[in-house]
Amino acid sequence: MYKNAYISAVAHYVPEKVLTNFDLEKMVDTSGEWIRTRTGIKERRILEDGKATSDMAAEAVKNICKLRGIDPMEIEGIIVATVTPDMFFPSTGNLVQEKSGAKNAWSFDVAAACSGFLYALSIGTQYIKAGTHSKIVVVGADKMSAITNYRDRNTCVLFGDAAGAVLLEPTDDEQIGLIDFMLFSDGSGAEYLKLKAGGSLYPASLETVANDWHFIYQDGKYVFKFAVSKMAEVAVNIIEKHGYSGKDLKLFVPHQANLRIIDATVKRLGIDYDKVMINIEKFGNTTAATIPLALSEAWEQGKLNKNDLVLFATFGGGFTWGSTLLRWAYDK
Ligand code: UT7
Repeated sequence: MYKNAYISAVAHYVPEKVLTNFDLEKMVDTSGEWIRTRTGIKERRILEDGKATSDMAAEAVKNICKLRGIDPMEIEGIIVATVTPDMFFPSTGNLVQEKSGAKNAWSFDVAAACSGFLYALSIGTQYIKAGTHSKIVVVGADKMSAITNYRDRNTCVLFGDAAGAVLLEPTDDEQIGLIDFMLFSDGSGAEYLKLKAGGSLYPASLETVANDWHFIYQDGKYVFKFAVSKMAEVAVNIIEKHGYSGKDLKLFVPHQANLRIIDATVKRLGIDYDKVMINIEKFGNTTAATIPLALSEAWEQGKLNKNDLVLFATFGGGFTWGSTLLRWAYDK
């Protein structure tokens, strides 16, 4: 019997504390005008000290259960995409399982940087399609402030903290659900966007700390060029593969790293901005959380209706990039 996976609920959590461009002007040699015109970002959220990625992710999971009207005990599996796990092990998924009360769920993490949510979503979809599971939660969550150097103007203006989650369930309805994934990696890009130390190559030492190797390093210009071309390519390729054009899309939810990268993709797709979900001005780049956070806000704003053709596209460290095509399953 035909079984597909569909998103049956979407939710998010963002910390209360806001860090504005004005605040950053007082911390590094930058200007609100530079940040806004070069990236589209006006402010971002920062999680309080003593809290971690799993705390935001657990709130998103609890919110999803409320929205869907289910008990967390009904969740069978939790997959967390993140580059800022609470610690190396246990997985952040394990901590989310405990904190959200989803005690019957197995759990693990996926590391694919900004593309992590789409990679995790593709895995969750396979569990549902295989017919072995009926409630899988896929989370994208990052506390980027934990790995951001607030003395480095090249990176500290870009990132923020957030979590977003979707619930995947099976359906017999061929008109709705996840249609396809296109995922790519290119390890030759590893050196341009990375957190160098703390792993097995450069374990923490006085030297790694003194050299700021526990913070994000990015060659912004190089990453930008690659991101612009790959995100647009993978967004166009997946819709054309299925015989659609930009006109058929009801909503495009891109990774929110830079408004200029989103602009380039929107141009290639040939779609109007009223079909594009953009919230980078409020949250900055929240890495694995950007797509589920933007999807959740789109849902709250009534931008998603049953049978709508929806496209996700992303690009991130690794390099990794990809797209997802789906038909939305329910009206608000
Ligand atoms: O999500 C994962 C993937 N990541 C991305 O997709 C990010 C891709 N990259 C970018 O979004 C952009 O490259 C940035 C926003 C990071 C930088 O924008 P850019 O237009 O590529 O600027 P740039 O790095 O070429 O820097 C231009 C100038 C430089 O000054 P000089 O050398 O021309 O004198 C920088 O030092 O802007 C300077 N600059 C700043 N000035 C004020 C860099 N950061 C800042 C800053 N405030 N915060």
